[in-house]
Order: sequence, then C-alpha cells, then structure tokens
Amino acid sequence: MSQLVFSICLNFEEIGSNASEVHHIKGKLPPGPPPLPIVGNILQVDIKNIITSLNLLSKKYGPVFTVYLGRQPTVVLHGYEALKEALIDRGDEFSGKMQSSLLSKANQGLGIIFSNGEIWKQTRRFSIMALRAMGMGKKTIEDLIQEEALCLVEALRKTNGAPCDPSFLLACVPCNVISAVIFQHRFHYKDETFLGFMKNFQRIIEILTSPWVQLCNAYPVLYCLPGSHNEYFKILAEIKEFILKEIKRHQESLNLSSPQDFIDYFLIKMKKEKHNEKSEFTMDNLIATISDLFHAGTETTSSTMKYGLFLLLKHPEVTAKIQEEIARVIGSHRRPCMQDRNHMPYTDAVLHEIQRHIDLIPIPLPRTTTQDVQFRGYHIPKGTSVMTSLTSVLNDDKEFPHPEKFDPGHFLDGKGNFKKSDYFMAFSAGRRACIGEGLARMEMFLILTNILQNFTLKPLVNPDYIDTTTVQTGLLSLPPSYELCFIPV
Ligand code: HEM
Ligand SMILES: *[C@@H]1O[C@H](CO)[C@@H](O)[C@H](O)[C@H]1NC(C)=O
Ligand SMILES: *[C@@H]1O[C@H](CO)[C@@H](O)[C@H](O)[C@H]1NC(C)=O
Repeated sequence: MSQLVFSICLNFEEIGSNASEVHHIKGKLPPGPPPLPIVGNILQVDIKNIITSLNLLSKKYGPVFTVYLGRQPTVVLHGYEALKEALIDRGDEFSGKMQSSLLSKANQGLGIIFSNGEIWKQTRRFSIMALRAMGMGKKTIEDLIQEEALCLVEALRKTNGAPCDPSFLLACVPCNVISAVIFQHRFHYKDETFLGFMKNFQRIIEILTSPWVQLCNAYPVLYCLPGSHNEYFKILAEIKEFILKEIKRHQESLNLSSPQDFIDYFLIKMKKEKHNEKSEFTMDNLIATISDLFHAGTETTSSTMKYGLFLLLKHPEVTAKIQEEIARVIGSHRRPCMQDRNHMPYTDAVLHEIQRHIDLIPIPLPRTTTQDVQFRGYHIPKGTSVMTSLTSVLNDDKEFPHPEKFDPGHFLDGKGNFKKSDYFMAFSAGRRACIGEGLARMEMFLILTNILQNFTLKPLVNPDYIDTTTVQTGLLSLPPSYELCFIPV
C-alpha cells in the first residue's frame, strides 16, 4: 500500500543517513533530506505523521529546512524564533498565499484567504476596518453574540438534561454570528435554508481539508482525479446564489448614512470607488469575501468550542474553577459580558489553553514568498511555498512545560493572574494572521460562560475513561464525537 510522503523522506534518512546530500540546484535553499520521486499512491497523508516527521527533520536540519513535495521545494519554518523572524519581523516577504488549482479557480484570486497582492491588501484592510466599526455600532458584535448565546442556552434547556451530542448546535452558533455580522440577521436552528447553507460549508471544508486536495495543491500535476472537486464547484455555485440573494436585498434597502452590517459597508465602499476602474471593490469580490469569512469563521470556532467542552468533561476540576469564578465575578442575576473577562483570569487561561492544547490548525495552508528572500544565510526564491509549523510553537516545552498536558497553568502566573504568551500562535502571526481573532475569542468567552452559568456538564462515563485524543481530518485537529448532559443549575 501507499506510503506517506514524509515518512518516505524519513525512512530514507534512517536507512541511509550517509546517503550523499543533494545539492539544491537553485543555490542555497535551506538544507533538507534528499528529494524523492513520487512513490505510488499517496492519498494517505496523515497530519500526525507529517508533524512527527517535521519534528524529527528539524532536529536534524534545524528550524529552517526544505522538503520536497514531488518536485516542488517547500521551506519549513519550525519553532518560535523562525516563525517570529519570518512572519513578524519580515512579514511582507512571507505574506503570499499559495494558489491551489482548486481554490484559485473557485475564488478567481478574490477575497482574503487565497488572494495576493493589492486585492488581498485592500480587502483585508477593509474587512478589519468594517469589523472594527461594527464592534462600536449601535448594535455591537458583542450584542449579536449575546443574542446567539441566549438562543443556544434556550435550545440546550430543551434537551431536559438528556444525553445529547452538542456538535449541531455548536456548529450553528458561529455560523449565525457570521450571518448576523454580514447579513444582519440570524437564522432559526431549524430553518431549512440555513441548514442547507451550513451543510454546504461543512462539505466544502471536508473537501478542502481532505488529504486528496492537499495533495492536489502540492502536485498540481496530479490534479485530475476524483469526483469531489466537481461536487465542490456545484456547492460553490449554490453558496454564491444564496449570498447574491442577500446582497440584492441589501442593495434595495441601503441607507448610505447608516450601514448596519458588512454588506452595507462594502456596498458603500463600492459606491465611493464607482469611478475608479481599477477598484478592488466589486460584486465578485464581495461574494468571494463573504464566502471566505464563512469558511474561515465557522468550522474553526465551532470545533474549538466542541473540543473545549469535551476537555471540560474530562477535567471537572477545571470546570468547577470556572464556575466558581463565574459565581464570584458575574453571579446569577445578570448575564456575562465582555467586561467580565478582565476580571476572570482563570477562565481566560482555560480558553487559551483549550486553543493551545487542541492545536486546531497545526500547519496552515502554505504561504509563499512575495520576492526573493535572503533568510538566515539562505536564498529562498520568490514564489517558494513556505509551511509554518504553528504546532511547534504551541508545543514548545520551555514556554509550556509538559506541553502534552491540558493545564490552564500554562497561562497563569504564580498569583493566578493571566499570563500572556507570545507563543500563543493559534491564530498565526503577522500580516496574514487571522482577522477574526477578536471576534472568535469574544464568541468563545460569551458562549462558554453562558453555558456554565446555566448548566452543569455531566459526562456519560467516568471522566477517567474519556479519551480526548484528536481525530485528524486532513489538516484540522478535530474532537471525536461525544455526548453529554446539560443539567440546569
Ligand atoms: C477559533 C477560531 C479561529 C482560529 C483558530 C483561526 C485561525 C486562523 C489561522 C491559523 C489563520 C491563518 C493562517 C496563515 O495563513 O498562516 C487564519 C486566517 C484567517 N481567519 Fe481565522 N481563525 C478563527 C476564527 C476566525 C473567524 C471567526 C473569522 C471571521 C471573522 C476568521 C477569518 C479569517 C480570515 C479572513 C483569514 C485569512 C487572513 C489572510 O489571509 O489575510 N477566522 N485564521
Ligand atoms: C438613514 O439613516 C439615517 C441615520 O440613521 C436616518 O436619519 C435616516 O432617516 C435614514 N433614511 C432612511 C431613508 O431610512
Ligand atoms: C442563565 O442563568 C442566569 C443566572 O441564573 C439567568 O439570569 C439567565 O437568564 C439564564 N439564561 C437563560 C438563557 O436562561
């Protein structure tokens, strides 16, 4: 059967460590194992294997090295120092995003996640500005999340303390929050349109993070086979249609002097740039950007919350401490708000530790260099793909002793104050870092505190027997399925 690309590299290392090292033709790329031909069918790429392999390779070659995926060199950045130097200190040079055949076809280079150059810069800057403006509007993003939290608590109450799998509701929440930000309304959890829309996004993530597509990205040559990319384009068309309907509705009722949501801000920007032929603010870019915000903001946030609750089931002592903090700071006569977070260091530490520990995106989709780069004595040509190992930073054992343990103490000082860490790179860092960090963290705080203020989490088995090991799907670390009871307090 097929072998893994990286384990192939590694096996070579182990068997033939005296095999002569290959001299990279393009001058001085960082060192690395000899490139290998593609061997057979390599559909079984497993991220855990990649992570282990990269850890071993970094021990041998240092924090900056080159691996070959097929014939294409990929520079790997491993560990805090290398990531900081590249992503933060030399942010511009490493700010490109690799174009995959599948995605560039779908988004035509528009939007934020897979765009490059001027269109990326402008769309990103605009989106950050719009999110910030909405954070301060009449109805703030915090208000929208509060509303959603209320609906969630009501839905959980309806389970009457019976065992339930929280996946569905926890998937609805972030999707509704993004809907509220972009469309100005949420959907009922039983709304058929909403369910279809959500399912489409989940399917897209499944397709995009499937090992097969990852490989197609790495070897565009292979990009020919199975049906999933046809399905992908069909789903994308449905999503587009849905978004376009919403945009039309907004165009009809647009009030230039009081934008209410993301679409309003964008339409106003479009009007302002009407006479600029080169404007990046076009209808197609709006659709692509909305689609990007749903892609980036739903599965990530819901998986983190789902995994977070699971970890709390496994660690009832941690849950009890959060509930103590809620009782002390918020009490039971009012609902949690963002102000409270400043007074809740323990809860804040738990949320950080959840994200660190679950390591949701161990290695994001590759970046590219935007120009020829001289880096630590190496020459990395323009357009080289660059993998950033976030997992190597989140699991640094000097910054986080026993990184494999779930321990909120990783983010607390001796006095129980919240301790910030530059190694917390769950949202990446620098020019391409997540633009939804503030939103996601707000959402996770409000949802978690609302749940724990109203319910006790009851596992179906003794916590000692709960296995919190990750299920890897392509490039995301997801929690296994589980059930629990929400017992009203
Ligand atoms: C727990 C939740 C989330 C996590 C862990 C997360 C993580 C990340 C990471 C690791 C990256 C990029 C990495 C890279 O290229 O190196 C990223 C990019 C991005 N995220 Fe998030 N994210 C989350 C939630 C959100 C939300 C709620 C939004 C929507 C507002 C969002 C919007 C984006 C966008 C648009 C990008 C692309 C930025 C660019 O390429 O310039 N994310 N996110
Ligand atoms: C547009 O918004 C402004 C400011 O909120 C408001 O005063 C005005 O009445 C609105 N115009 C229409 C047509 O709704
Ligand atoms: C959650 O519990 C708090 C405190 O008892 C209460 O004020 C709040 O109304 C409850 N939330 C919901 C949605 O029932």
